[in-house]
Amino acid sequence: MNKSSFYLTTPIYYVNSVPHLGTAYTTVAADALARYRRMTGHDVHFLTGLDEHGQKVAQAAEENGMDPQTWVDTIAPKFLDAWKMLAITNDDFIRTTEERHVRGAQAFLQVLKDNGDLYQGHYEGWYCLPDETFYTEDQLAEGNCCPQCGRDVQFIKEDNWFFRLSAYQERLLAHYEANPQFIQPETRRNEVVSFVAGGLKDLSVSRTTFTWGIPLPFDPDHVMYVWFDALINYITAVGYGDPDRAEEFARRWPAQYHFVGKDIIRFHCAIWPAMLMAAGLELPETVFAHGFLLTKGEKMSKSKGNAVTPASLVERFGVDAYRYYFLRDVQFGHDGSISMEGMVQRYNGDLANDWGNLVSRLLNMTEKYCDGAVPQPPAAADEADADILSIAAGLPAAYEARMRELDYVGALESAWELIKRANRYIEDSAPWNLAKADETRPRLEAVLYNTLEAVRIAALFTAPVMPNTSAEVWARLGLGDLFDVTDLAAAAAWGGLPAGSRVSKGDPLFPRIYEE
Ligand code: MSP
Repeated sequence: MNKSSFYLTTPIYYVNSVPHLGTAYTTVAADALARYRRMTGHDVHFLTGLDEHGQKVAQAAEENGMDPQTWVDTIAPKFLDAWKMLAITNDDFIRTTEERHVRGAQAFLQVLKDNGDLYQGHYEGWYCLPDETFYTEDQLAEGNCCPQCGRDVQFIKEDNWFFRLSAYQERLLAHYEANPQFIQPETRRNEVVSFVAGGLKDLSVSRTTFTWGIPLPFDPDHVMYVWFDALINYITAVGYGDPDRAEEFARRWPAQYHFVGKDIIRFHCAIWPAMLMAAGLELPETVFAHGFLLTKGEKMSKSKGNAVTPASLVERFGVDAYRYYFLRDVQFGHDGSISMEGMVQRYNGDLANDWGNLVSRLLNMTEKYCDGAVPQPPAAADEADADILSIAAGLPAAYEARMRELDYVGALESAWELIKRANRYIEDSAPWNLAKADETRPRLEAVLYNTLEAVRIAALFTAPVMPNTSAEVWARLGLGDLFDVTDLAAAAAWGGLPAGSRVSKGDPLFPRIYEE
């Protein structure tokens, strides 16, 4: 059952440095959604990649004594390795230095030029290099700093090509009005609406003072402004500008989701849609902006020196716990504080105590009392089973409702309701007492079957966030490959666990961590 195309993207990351917790955050969140949508039968296309052009990347290359191409070729594998380490299942990985992108981006600019949306002009104003953003004098923060990141800006004067962004103000506002889901969450939507309503200036879209970029097809002394170049990746990756991939492009575009950080919504919610309108293309369905990860109240970033690496956390907690922590502790769409103490707490509480412990004790009891074979499902339901059965039955709809809102916290909480209930169910039913007498044997088997079934179902719904653990739980239950599930609702129907299936207890899934 292949539902329609589900195309989602992350920003393409600058290769001025290696992946960090911030970039990993967006990527993990997108991966959890991609995995979930594959399980619900969608034809998922999950794109991530690298933003390799521009002055900032050229400067990083120079500082490292390399030419820009060698530099980006050195950094790209570090991103690929990081995404592999984090179990990211992107279907494509675009680099803006690739031929397919360069050709597509040039074709796009030619269309804008032919449609009369580009013109030559003179630019004088301020530029924030770390953000690759133009600012007018009155937009600057106190002390002539970048209003976004607070760093120094530079004054530039150039003859450039301009995009008639100002001409799209009314159409953009009309689009926001008619499509309330276009910018989420609501606070970001309001921010963009007031920004656009305040008036848009035409945008300089080329540079001449350096060469590390895509030459304009109609004026090769100019290279494309890096943000223009970068945004176009969302369409070149799926075949824009390539006659041989026209069908693919028609099937994939428009995207269902662009995931972005809140610092880059103007590019994605004002400039990008105006570019698409100018080219006569449809707009993406939703741009979802998440918040910042904060450490000790400050935005976590490399330049502030408060960045811990993803690898060091994965080494200590494991990849699934890493993914779980960021999605469970930070409400997607809001800023959220992260800390080592918080991570240890989540790990020991939710993962070691609730989930890992449930699986261990249950599989142990199945080995001990049933020779490691799943018992027969009970012939009739007992009153004491009603609660766990109804939580399991309600889980697919509850989870879906949360995921539609990209409320990962809520989705995980709904899975945890089942996990916690299963733990309590074991306590209440006390299988160790039921095992003492022959006449309570049927009840013992019923309790074990029901809990095993709850665990099987909980593994399905924790899989988008913790894929390795869920696959392991399925394997221990003697079930097939969890990643083959493409009809989650059917897979989650009660009674899917076959009696007689051999279980194996294995090592603890989340051995307790003691704080150093
Ligand atoms: N290259 C541009 C994006 C072009 S997309 C057409 C870019 N790259 S970036 O590498 O600087 O950042 C990418 C994303 O990482 C942004 O969405 C940003 O919000 C996110 N993060 C960087 N630091 C962050 C945190 N501390 N917390 C959460 N995410 C933040 O911008």
